[in-house]
Amino acid sequence: MAISFDRERQTFHLQTPHSSYIITIVEGLYPSHVYWGPRLRNASWPGGLTLRERASFSPTPNPDKPSLSLDALLQEYPGYGSGDFRSPAYQFALSDGTTVAELVYREHRIFAGKPKLEGLPATYAESDGEAETLELTLHDSFSGLIAVLSYTTFRDSDAIARSVRYVNESADSVRIRRALSASVDFNNDEYELVHLNGAWANERNLSRRALVQGQQGIESRRGSSSHQHNPFVALVSPNADEEQGDAYGFSLVYSGSFAASAEVDQFRTTRVSIGINPFDFEWLLEPGQSFQAPEAVLVYSNEGLGGMSRTYHRLYRSRLSRGEFRDRTRPVLVNNWEATYFDFDADKIAAIAEEGARLGIELFVLDDGWFGYRNDDTTSLGDWKVDLKKLPQGLDDLAKRVNAHGLQFGLWFEPEMISPDSDLYRAHPDWCLHVEGRRRTQGRRQLILDLSREDVCDYIIDTVGGVLASAPIAYVKWDMNRNMTEIGSALLPPERQRETAHRYMLGLYRVLETITSRFPHILFESCSGGGGRFDPGMLHYMPQTWTSDNSDAVCRLKIQYGTSLVYPISSMGAHVSAVPNHQVHRVTSLKMRGDVAMSGNFGYELDLTKFTPEEKEEVKAQVTAYKELRELVQFGDLYRLKSPFEGNDTAWTVVSADKSEAFVAFFRVLAQPNAPIDWLRLAGLDPNADYEIAGTGERFGGDQLMYAGLPVPRLEGDFQSATWRIKRV
Ligand code: DGJ
Repeated sequence: MAISFDRERQTFHLQTPHSSYIITIVEGLYPSHVYWGPRLRNASWPGGLTLRERASFSPTPNPDKPSLSLDALLQEYPGYGSGDFRSPAYQFALSDGTTVAELVYREHRIFAGKPKLEGLPATYAESDGEAETLELTLHDSFSGLIAVLSYTTFRDSDAIARSVRYVNESADSVRIRRALSASVDFNNDEYELVHLNGAWANERNLSRRALVQGQQGIESRRGSSSHQHNPFVALVSPNADEEQGDAYGFSLVYSGSFAASAEVDQFRTTRVSIGINPFDFEWLLEPGQSFQAPEAVLVYSNEGLGGMSRTYHRLYRSRLSRGEFRDRTRPVLVNNWEATYFDFDADKIAAIAEEGARLGIELFVLDDGWFGYRNDDTTSLGDWKVDLKKLPQGLDDLAKRVNAHGLQFGLWFEPEMISPDSDLYRAHPDWCLHVEGRRRTQGRRQLILDLSREDVCDYIIDTVGGVLASAPIAYVKWDMNRNMTEIGSALLPPERQRETAHRYMLGLYRVLETITSRFPHILFESCSGGGGRFDPGMLHYMPQTWTSDNSDAVCRLKIQYGTSLVYPISSMGAHVSAVPNHQVHRVTSLKMRGDVAMSGNFGYELDLTKFTPEEKEEVKAQVTAYKELRELVQFGDLYRLKSPFEGNDTAWTVVSADKSEAFVAFFRVLAQPNAPIDWLRLAGLDPNADYEIAGTGERFGGDQLMYAGLPVPRLEGDFQSATWRIKRV
């Protein structure tokens, strides 16, 4: 039993293979947090949850029990208004206008398996034996609102999936103002906060800072998870590195506006919470209705950030992503965006595909510009009809020409958008997100379709579905190139306008669910100007994401390293692009560009026909090497060895689950004069096994490679890389 209940002590013990999470119901009412950390044998011990009388400024719900104050209690799902002054997990307004509420324990059930979250992406169990779930039902007796807290443990993972469902059992409507997915109270503040921040073309930089008294956190108000912040935070002990120390991860399975924060209070406890951003959010819950908050996936590791990441990688790769491609190696592709932008015709595309075939590439992706009259980015989004000026024989013919060269054919869409200059907008000017009478603010000369509307979602399903059925399409790149403004819907009544952004996400998830299940043989890759929506919500429907529009090899070291904090390599699109690079104008070697991209879902984003004969030979060798490597790289365990955020060198290794082989990559950005001799200490190998380096035949013990290190060859010049393939002998 992974979840047990001690009736006498009113205590729940959730055990994962290496961790324990303990909840106790104080006074039969208050679900309280006792422990989260390395696995314990027993959930109760003297003083496990210590209560202490505080000053009168921390009020007590029971005057006869002065040691109990909600302001000091470590809680599982705290509210506001009756004694806890810290940041609440929930808040709702009743029909009398008041916002005081107190959700207390009513009942619970423990059962095998993991239920689906209605309308939302989530991790899953393939059989009931894989997972166990605790549902704690809380109620506010005054209002009749119910909250069902759900906790799932997995047989094979150190993750705990949490979510909350509200049910209005009263005769009155209730306005939910805040409905976070998870809140955990730590009994001290000796941690650092880790999160990922960035911007377009500069996504997921690693940020780490000591906690201070008060609130600290991150959020997105953009209507998508965003380039600027990722829906993830971790608390780590100050000694935590890639191999050791405590790491507590909080990752939200959601693609819209979110908030995550850590609050250190007067008693130096720390409250971490994550969920839909309460800013500009409200949800009207009529009697009998329910509201499902997204899932938060919590991971504890005492093997530092490295251990935490590997737990996320395995879970997200195998029990968040779905579909035929979940466990399949991904094709090597070439995408024409940076090769042609909008300026192409069928012959140009066929020429790139033909060259791709000679180089061993398996998939051609036709990017933006194939529909409407889209010769630049000012028009036609929404008009998903092929541009017969560019492609006179249509898509089917082009796809078959590409197929004839032995490559599969993939296609770009941006289905959530509408250009003001489009037939769709002329026919349906009210189909975009907007507020009547106000300016409709554009981004990249486009507006966002109102996916809170069923008819708009159905239009997307029909038109995109129609194109997908019209030609042999094996891959789709699903793009989304701006953030939300004037977030209002023409169909929602005034009291529901603030539901628009979340209803949009529910609409989007319905569209994705329908299209991906209708076309199970298509590999879907999500994209939002690169990695503006690189989140677990999208990965549930699409197993990979275009990591960043920035494909410069040096910038990609940080972007891919930061992304790997939560997301597996199999989810990261990584392409070799032309030099000078189109984003930062840097010139790096083809070798380094190849080596960086090979630590992802490999491809090219340039005009293959422009390579010199020597470059073609090098590319052919890269493609061949990647095909031999991809099973390992896409599905192995990642160990980060040297951080690009800390110095001139970056290194990582991917080790197969059985530790029989590894791929090692080392990168040096700038040349160093009179450089020291470097020994790269590997990780994740079997210390008792012997390994051989492919190519040189040199043999090392796993212990020697991990504890003494692999000698790094002399590297001359800027932008250098070295890779090794290691096999157990
Ligand atoms: C943004 C994407 O990230 C690019 O890769 C490309 O598809 C463009 N959009 C096309 O408009």
